[in-house]
Amino acid sequence: MQIIKPPIPAPYSILCVVGARPNFMKMAPIMAAFAALGPELDVSLVHTGQHYDVAMNHQYFEALGIPQPDINLEVGSGSHTEQTANVMLRFESVLNAKDPSAVLVVGDVNSTLACALVAVKKEVPVIHVEAGLRSFDRAMPEEINRVLTDQISELLFITERSGRENLLREGIAEYRIRFVGNVMIDTLHHNLAKAVPVSQILQDAGREEFLDGHDGYAILTAHRPSNVDDPETLRSLLETILKISARLPVIFPVHPRTRDMIQKFGFSKMLDVPTVLQLPPMGYLEMLGLMKDARVVLTDSGGIQEETTALGVPCITLRNNTERPITVDEGTNTIAGLDSAKILTIFDEIMLTGGKTGRIPELWDGHASTRIAAEILSWIKNGFQSN
Ligand code: UD1
Repeated sequence: MQIIKPPIPAPYSILCVVGARPNFMKMAPIMAAFAALGPELDVSLVHTGQHYDVAMNHQYFEALGIPQPDINLEVGSGSHTEQTANVMLRFESVLNAKDPSAVLVVGDVNSTLACALVAVKKEVPVIHVEAGLRSFDRAMPEEINRVLTDQISELLFITERSGRENLLREGIAEYRIRFVGNVMIDTLHHNLAKAVPVSQILQDAGREEFLDGHDGYAILTAHRPSNVDDPETLRSLLETILKISARLPVIFPVHPRTRDMIQKFGFSKMLDVPTVLQLPPMGYLEMLGLMKDARVVLTDSGGIQEETTALGVPCITLRNNTERPITVDEGTNTIAGLDSAKILTIFDEIMLTGGKTGRIPELWDGHASTRIAAEILSWIKNGFQSN
């Protein structure tokens, strides 16, 4: 049954939540679209502090022009339970103090679910941006976060049509679902001209010569617990990357989790070859510059599967599944899993043919956040009812 609240006077207060790196790219255009609507909306930003390093956090706010958070809950790292519980406890006080008309969460990180759960228990309607994605792999912490957040959200914005089928199958009422496109791609469009060229990144790393004599480069990113937390899996992945680097130099911005695991398992020397360049986590504009001119991107990230599709750059996904099937059906993505032979076969094919060209998915046009902001405003004005 649809919750119908009595109309409330403007300004309508919305509490937006970010916690971890992939949230920042999604929230940046939403905050801008809200601001463009003017004083009818009173928007605050809460940062849970799930990510806190300069490289994982501050750099993004600066580069993407996200307003400084009104509140930082400073939860930091911990087990899933610790992190989720700490966010919940600290977010509850903020919610009590702010008493917003709605809470908006993005993506699928622990902070997303934690804040959605606190809000719904206080009968504050939850808006979920990037709803409906499913990998159907419940061993992924993000899949649990997605399924549960969607179940308790009042308004669900989806990036691709598969999201609607997934949500309907799970009993979500159709009237709650809005197909609006992809806010990640809004951010990409907005920043493409500002992308930092790879030559600059190499110069900053003191490795100007890294690509000399080579015809392009590959990018690697890997941070999923299923890929990096088990020593044999990580060893096999690094061995595969070494084989690839014998054909094409590999630039590898190393996520803190992966860096810690490489050290812990004693693999630090494995990638000590002239054709692999390990870098610290990159800022958004640096990563965009790296991806844009890469011949191929190997990744276990969800967002990068989407960004490579938008950029028309071949992507090899180092997972057995994707919650973003449109990147495979219409985009440049190929699911490789972790089998070394399979990854190398797909890599060879891309070297030979240039890989899938793909096309831009429906509504990935740079205007998703404008549609979202307009929809939210009319939903609130309409007494939180969907048309
Ligand atoms: C989280 C998200 C994942 C997302 C990823 C992007 C969940 C369940 N996972 O995974 O969906 O793709 O962010 O990066 O929410 N660390 C630092 N500095 C930081 C943050 C983390 O050094 O600023 C290290 C800590 O050792 C920490 C580890 O990275 O324990 C993991 O961080 P955490 O936020 O728990 O998960 P991620 O692997 O980053």
